[in-house]
Amino acid sequence: MMDIAAELPGVIKLGRGDPDLDTPEHIVRAGQDALAGGATHYTHPMGMLELRQAISDDIATHGGARYAPEHIVVTPGGQQAMFIIALGLLDAGDELLLACPGYNPYIQAAELTEAKLVQIRMSLETNFTLTAEMVRAHVTPRSKVLVLINPANPTGTVIPPEEVERICRVAIEHDLIVVSDEIYARLTYDGHRAQPVAALPGMRERTITLSGVSKAYAMTGWRVGYFAGPADLMPALAEIHHGLAISTSAVGQHAAIAALTGPQDCVERIRRTFDARRRVLCDGLDQLGISYAKPQGAFYVYARVADVGIPATDFCERLLTEGRVMIFPGRIYGDYTDDFARISLTQSVEGIEECLRRMSGVVAAIRSERAAS
Ligand SMILES: Cc1ncc(COP(=O)(O)O)c(C=O)c1O
Repeated sequence: MMDIAAELPGVIKLGRGDPDLDTPEHIVRAGQDALAGGATHYTHPMGMLELRQAISDDIATHGGARYAPEHIVVTPGGQQAMFIIALGLLDAGDELLLACPGYNPYIQAAELTEAKLVQIRMSLETNFTLTAEMVRAHVTPRSKVLVLINPANPTGTVIPPEEVERICRVAIEHDLIVVSDEIYARLTYDGHRAQPVAALPGMRERTITLSGVSKAYAMTGWRVGYFAGPADLMPALAEIHHGLAISTSAVGQHAAIAALTGPQDCVERIRRTFDARRRVLCDGLDQLGISYAKPQGAFYVYARVADVGIPATDFCERLLTEGRVMIFPGRIYGDYTDDFARISLTQSVEGIEECLRRMSGVVAAIRSERAAS
């Protein structure tokens, strides 16, 4: 899709999960100051101590477990952490359980280690919400890792806290390690709240918390994420990170310290910005007669574009070539149907309104073709 888009003029991009917003000024300044001050070297392989301390405080402040800095590894984005965790924990034949559709690098990480990917199929009828019963139904003696992405990408679903607790009880019962991807936890709407997993009883020792500054602080290009976990797992996982990256960029880490320790009103500003866009997009989809999962967190709307009468992959292609709007088909995220597309809220309200106008033209064309055939 990105290759096709690169050839076309005037494409509105609602594809990647990359906020269009600028990194808040005080964070950029901290990066600039760090560079001017000579932050141009490797850092401690696990990340600057000051940053790991800030991460520890940030996790605890938001209702998570308290991690010692030596149990936190700073990575070039949470993305790399997924592969470190998979390489460290999974042997060929082990099973990794992932709600489907789900963020695709977890699928690739499982494939890389020759683990067996077990996809737990979600559906629009339940707003793509994972439940303990669904997890239990997929557990086998080879199940090793359960990935929870909460709020979820691509669906924007937030698992209710009491359901997270039930899922965790299943994890304990079946001795699963939970990778809790909480990168969108600060971006929730309508009073929804994502429960940090490691803070729940019996979970600290079997949970790896994965997150980063990319989304809540609009810092995707700085490449700073992290994972934090139990004492027995972290040294080996840290060594894999060291082998892959040596350390995360010093300038990015300085900026991340400013993000986590500086004023936090920027996060609320970013959250409200996405919330306003979310409402506009959902209203527009309602008017077009396209159903979608009610987005409760993150910054995506997962829409059943096949409601207009053609498969989602065809719809996305036509929307791109005829309407000059780029969105991604759900198939990318392992969706077992070809019915959905993920629309990122990565344009201003005006940009989203323009996208809806263009979408409306393409939808009308498709509907009239179908009526005529
Ligand atoms: C669910 C989820 N986790 C982690 C990441 C990784 O983000 P980053 O590598 O920028 O920290 C993403 C990026 O889109 C994501 O959607």
